Amino acid sequence: MKELSLHILDIIENSINAKATTIKLRIFEDLKDNLLIIEIKDNGKGMNKEMLSKVLDPFVTSRTTRRVGLGLSLTKLAANQCAGDLVIDSTKNEGTSVLITFQYGHIDRAPIGNMADTVVSMILANENIDYEYIHKVNDKEFIFNTKEIKESLEGVSVTEIDIIAWIKEYIEEGISSLRCCRPL
Ligand SMILES: Nc1ncnc2c1ncn2[C@@H]1O[C@H](COP(=O)(O)OP(=O)(O)O)[C@@H](O)[C@H]1O
Ligand SMILES: [Mg+2]
Repeated sequence: MKELSLHILDIIENSINAKATTIKLRIFEDLKDNLLIIEIKDNGKGMNKEMLSKVLDPFVTSRTTRRVGLGLSLTKLAANQCAGDLVIDSTKNEGTSVLITFQYGHIDRAPIGNMADTVVSMILANENIDYEYIHKVNDKEFIFNTKEIKESLEGVSVTEIDIIAWIKEYIEEGISSLRCCRPL
């Protein structure tokens, strides 16, 4: 049972390979409806209909070297095992969106994992990509946007060690504030 953050990183790797310049990640923990929704949207090169129809086949890949990652079909399997699903939509030359749902409280649902580390890994994978990360728990929302941070850094690289440390802490605090202090 792999943490969901590893699936997320894998899907984001696809977006990076598709030359996306903007990648949006949305996580919604909807405890009222017992739903976990993860959405990844990119503005990369997209897929034609033929590729899109085959992409959930575990033997389909456009890569030419062997790999050890998870792949979309394994993520779909993980979702299906938790009364959820994975749906991909893509338009050639426009972008791709991947929507994954899980029954939140399903016994087989893997934990989300460490999202602060995951977002930092995303940034370090390619600092030129603008990432938007929105994490919602019921009615509370945390929004993180690298474009805004880059603007405020006035030329200092987001990959500077102290900036990365700050980002990690900022996201950790943001996520923990989503879970804390619920009114009675
Ligand atoms: N965001 C995306 N944009 C464009 N093509 C994609 C995207 N995600 C997946 N694909 C296509 O689907 C194929 C299968 O993806 P995946 O299941 O992650 O396996 P892998 O990354 O090992 O090829 C990729 O090789 C790629 O051709
Ligand atoms: Mg992949």
